Amino acid sequence: MKLWAGRFQSEIDQKTNDFNSSISFDCRMVHEDIKGSMAHAAMLGAQNIISPDESRKIIDGLQSILDDLQSGALQIDKTAEDIHTFIEGELTKRIGDSGKRLHTARSRNDQVALDLRLYLIGKTDELHNAVCKLLDVILRQAQQHADTIMPGYTHLQRAQPITFGHHLMAYAEMLHRDLERLSDCKKRMAISPLGSGALAGTTYPLDREKVAENLHLNGVTNNSLDGVSDRDFCLELLSALSILMVHLSRFSEEIILWCSWEFKFIELSDAFATGSSIMPQKKNPDIAELVRGKSGRVFGDLMGMLTVMKGIPLAYNKDMQEDKEAVFDAVDTVLICVDTFAAMLDTMTVLKDNMRTAAAKGFINATDCADYLVYKGLPFRDAYKAVGQLVALCIEKNLTLETLPIEEYQKICADFAPDVYDAIALETCVQKRLVKGGPAPDCVSHEIEAMRKTLRKEAEEYDG
Ligand code: ARG
Repeated sequence: MKLWAGRFQSEIDQKTNDFNSSISFDCRMVHEDIKGSMAHAAMLGAQNIISPDESRKIIDGLQSILDDLQSGALQIDKTAEDIHTFIEGELTKRIGDSGKRLHTARSRNDQVALDLRLYLIGKTDELHNAVCKLLDVILRQAQQHADTIMPGYTHLQRAQPITFGHHLMAYAEMLHRDLERLSDCKKRMAISPLGSGALAGTTYPLDREKVAENLHLNGVTNNSLDGVSDRDFCLELLSALSILMVHLSRFSEEIILWCSWEFKFIELSDAFATGSSIMPQKKNPDIAELVRGKSGRVFGDLMGMLTVMKGIPLAYNKDMQEDKEAVFDAVDTVLICVDTFAAMLDTMTVLKDNMRTAAAKGFINATDCADYLVYKGLPFRDAYKAVGQLVALCIEKNLTLETLPIEEYQKICADFAPDVYDAIALETCVQKRLVKGGPAPDCVSHEIEAMRKTLRKEAEEYDG
């Protein structure tokens, strides 16, 4: 029998029932549903909207449901319409008529909006924690490789020397912004819509702030129509998660390249790679490929949710039941990606010598060679032109800037002296890039320390 059976003359069609039902996925919010109902019942009692005795009975009944669910004595009935009707039905079974008073001054519309907010607050905390752990791994690897020289790229062409630590810290910066985005969207998520009713509030003298306070929320929604029909908190979380997945996907792409024989900059642990069923020599970076692939899935969840929301008039419409699977899928996907990615990164071996060898090819110290002339007083454009001629000469003679004799240098520009070889040594090139945000090992160590400090401070302040 449905909650709303009063107005109907016949039972719902079985297929329609299945189509309409959301319990198969909203059962995840069972704890939030019960906690929300407890706070609502406590407030109804305190405001004398129901008697304090009935309020107590409801809260005790809800607690017994929670206990039985936790012990396994009670199973969620998957034929119920949704988690809200299941809990209310079970409560009434247990405490009789008092259970029927729980829904006073409430609608499933404000109830579901509250449950989803509470559930996603918990998940946002889990995500935040997982990203912090990933950052720890990155910071440790970056520290270890603060002076490991590698080629930096533009257009995937060797460009200028950097360190592996510096390269890793670029990802740390991205992930730190992801943390900020998660904290920020949690602020707007942690607002109680309860009291919005079905759409037009209620005539009862509710204490909405008290309910919010009991649930550790930061405030209450300002408009009842918005309270029940706002899903910005889902869109914001999905957007933040999509951006996070862009970062993990780019990182994955680099891991995949670095594992290839064409680069061989890193070796993944056997525990985080797979073999081929036919090619005995293969060791494939499947984890990184899957993370790259799953980014598409999370973007899909965001697009789905944007599309669901874009055309619905105020206030609640059943279309909005589609919010949950999208946001649940994104949360689950990102959590598993971040965890697995962190473990893969933690166990990878960095092949420093291969990075150094690659950095020695491709004239990546050409800019430094030009800068050498600039320090001697030449305008940069003239210096640039002279070094261009030197590079052409090296290519013709199959030499590098390090191995080209000084006489050849001086034929092109008389300002060159033997100290040019020190100036273009890769170690010098990297060490001299001391500008804030630069790859000099000292800057990288400083950046790592600063990031550690920021993370510690933010962890203390985080309201998790
Ligand atoms: N299962 C619904 C959802 O997830 C709950 C709200 C139902 N409200 C209603 N008026 N039918 O959106």
